[in-house]
Amino acid sequence: MTPNVSSIDPTTKQGPRENEERIIIRGGKPLNGEVKVSGAKNAVLKMMAAALLAPGVSILRNVPNLTDVHMMADVIRHLGAKVTVGVDEVIIDASDLTDYEAPYELVSQLRASFVVLGPLLARCKQAKVSLPGGCSIGERRIDLHERGLKSLGAEIYCEHGYVHAQAEKLVGTRIYLDKPSNGATENIMLAAVLAEGQTVIENAAQDPEITNLADFVNAMGGKITGAGTYQIVIDGVRVEDLHGAVIDTIPDRLEAGTFLFACMATTGEITMTNCNPHHLYSVISKMQEMGAEVSIFAPDVIKVRSGKIRAVDTTTLPYPGYPTDLQAPMMSVLALAEGTSIINETIFENRFMQVGELRRMGADISLTGNAAIIKGVPKLTGAEVKSSDLRAAAALVIAGLAAEGVTEVTGLKHMDRGYEHLEDKLRGLGADIYRR
Ligand code: EPZ
Repeated sequence: MTPNVSSIDPTTKQGPRENEERIIIRGGKPLNGEVKVSGAKNAVLKMMAAALLAPGVSILRNVPNLTDVHMMADVIRHLGAKVTVGVDEVIIDASDLTDYEAPYELVSQLRASFVVLGPLLARCKQAKVSLPGGCSIGERRIDLHERGLKSLGAEIYCEHGYVHAQAEKLVGTRIYLDKPSNGATENIMLAAVLAEGQTVIENAAQDPEITNLADFVNAMGGKITGAGTYQIVIDGVRVEDLHGAVIDTIPDRLEAGTFLFACMATTGEITMTNCNPHHLYSVISKMQEMGAEVSIFAPDVIKVRSGKIRAVDTTTLPYPGYPTDLQAPMMSVLALAEGTSIINETIFENRFMQVGELRRMGADISLTGNAAIIKGVPKLTGAEVKSSDLRAAAALVIAGLAAEGVTEVTGLKHMDRGYEHLEDKLRGLGADIYRR
């Protein structure tokens, strides 16, 4: 196999290795049948961190089997929690925490683990958490986390690549976030659970994963209201008031959106179960504009049927706007639309990494600033492509399902972080896809 120039890994200056694990797709088969959506990665990782707030045993259910979940288990084990990762549940006993430091070798593997900062600070009165650094999709600053925790009374400084936080006691206050950041909302909300008095977070992230997290904390004895809106109110409690709790993880709206777009790209017809249509309105609305027939059967079933794809314009926005995480999967479908579409990416600076690879498959996409201009083409053709991040991986798989001929996708470590058994589920819908 001759490495193609655009498949050269910029960090290693190497092309895909012959023996690198890959997904092989023989495209052109319409997806058909029923698929069950897994639990949400971005909810479960934060709830695992939140379990650190309370002495006692917590059980998280409907947990997907993902490498990120195993890595988060390693992070909280390092802090002294006893963690059992089962088939679809995680059991956490956080009775005795033995450390307040989350080291670089763990946090650098998994940015989401930075959310242990808030619970550690609240419970141990100090925390030392490695700065996660930038990543392939953008700069990903943590200034809002820092500012929020400082407002609660913590002393915070960064030294030698670590955030050090310390506070004998946290005191509730009103905090306005310049941007509705998920991570900052989560860290501040979790720290405020054990603060004295009331904390109000204004311009909070409204994502369903935040609501799931607040529901879990409330089941542990916390007092949070307003999660899911732009204003979250946290009335502080004492650590003695908290205990372990049981919670069901919400369905993964991003996995669900990925199946919906995979169905559209292949002009298929699928039924999705265990999903929450309320979490997908912006996506369903765009799909309808693109020509898909979408039917919702309450409370947790969506059926989609697709024919000709129409071009649409989209701007990614904080929830309930169109999600940045489904920008790349949507682009693979728009690459096959009739007409020209424009996607504006407003959340992350570098989230068009899939474009070069989609071009290798015959897509006509140009980039200008934070906009992608996608001129629909009648067909894509299979190629060797390499994924650079989780959602780019999904976009390449979708393109491969629709393309003529064989597509080989490498860089699977990204995909395995966020999609549970993706190729098995797609094979269940009739796709010709396997891993080698
Ligand atoms: C979460 O990341 C998700 N990750 C991301 O999903 C998702 O893309 C993102 O939210 C946006 O929806 C997890 O939940 C594990 P943010 P997070 O803080 O919390 C800026 C996926 O594929 N910002 O909401 O890190 C930031 O740069 C992943 O599943 C600051 O400026 O994102 C961005 O522009 C990737 N200062 C915006 O806010 C800060 O202190 C939103 O980021 C924090 C954020």
